[in-house]
Amino acid sequence: MPGTARIPSVSGEQPSLAEGATVTSAYASPPGGYPPAAAPPAPPAVVATEVSKVYGSGDAAVHALRGVSVGFARGVFTAIMGPSGSGKSTLMHCLAGLDTVSGGQVRLGDSEITRMSDKQLTLLRRNRIGFIFQAFNLLPTLTAEQNIKLPLELAGRALDQRWFEQVVEVVGLRDRLNHRPSELSGGQQQRVACARALVARPEVIFADEPTGNLDSRAGAEVLGFLRGSVREMGQTIVMVTHDPVAASYADRVVFLRDGMVVTELTRPTPDAVLDTLKRLGA
Ligand SMILES: Nc1ncnc2c1ncn2[C@@H]1O[C@H](COP(=O)(O)OP(=O)(O)OP(=O)(O)O)[C@@H](O)[C@H]1O
Ligand SMILES: [Mg+2]
Repeated sequence: MPGTARIPSVSGEQPSLAEGATVTSAYASPPGGYPPAAAPPAPPAVVATEVSKVYGSGDAAVHALRGVSVGFARGVFTAIMGPSGSGKSTLMHCLAGLDTVSGGQVRLGDSEITRMSDKQLTLLRRNRIGFIFQAFNLLPTLTAEQNIKLPLELAGRALDQRWFEQVVEVVGLRDRLNHRPSELSGGQQQRVACARALVARPEVIFADEPTGNLDSRAGAEVLGFLRGSVREMGQTIVMVTHDPVAASYADRVVFLRDGMVVTELTRPTPDAVLDTLKRLGA
């Protein structure tokens, strides 16, 4: 899988021999010794296998997803793109346990979420998944700090104060913690939403058009920060976007058309993303 290529391999330390052991081999070692064994690939954070989704039935049935199989490696920033109606939001909702599938399987780590009850899904979304939405979705009566801490409080989980400080530092919100959302710019509000997602250390963050309501400068700040959280904190992010520049911040772009994964790019440039979208008729 292309996304796994960037996962660092284990160190190439030579195994030491037990005391007194002798090496008997008819073959000479290659110059420089044997190469270290390849690291076993890390299991992906999220995997969809043959996922289908049908809305409605009979003549009115809409096949929003038609057998999507795709994995999202840990510590990788992936964008999902495709023409309007191609199934991006549907796929994200199925991956995040926000919607049920009509067929196929979704796994988050060791858990098959497509077999979970509503109650299990609520806990899963609360404890293991982070969300960032286009509309920020902050509570207006709470300060930035209270918004950031809210999911942990709802989950009854202890706050790691050092981690909180680090996240606040990274998103540059130190001097805005006591402001309410109405006292913050759009970019600052989205950074609060990013911090809120990150502070719970979710296994994956799903972001649906996170820069859709921001001007290009604020958008670039948020995207730079999301990419930083992948690079520096090992966060896994899956982001739906229409914007080729936004997608170019990702490590990998998966393209949908008519409910199917049709192609993907690694290390995307805005031009390469735009070309691919044109070919797909977006
Ligand atoms: N609740 C629903 N009921 C019926 N059809 C739906 C529903 N949600 C989505 N669809 C249909 O499923 C298909 C995929 O929709 P989806 O919202 O996933 O597309 P998208 O790629 O996110 O599009 P956009 O870029 O416009 O947001 C579309 O044909 C859409 O009309
Ligand atoms: Mg959508």
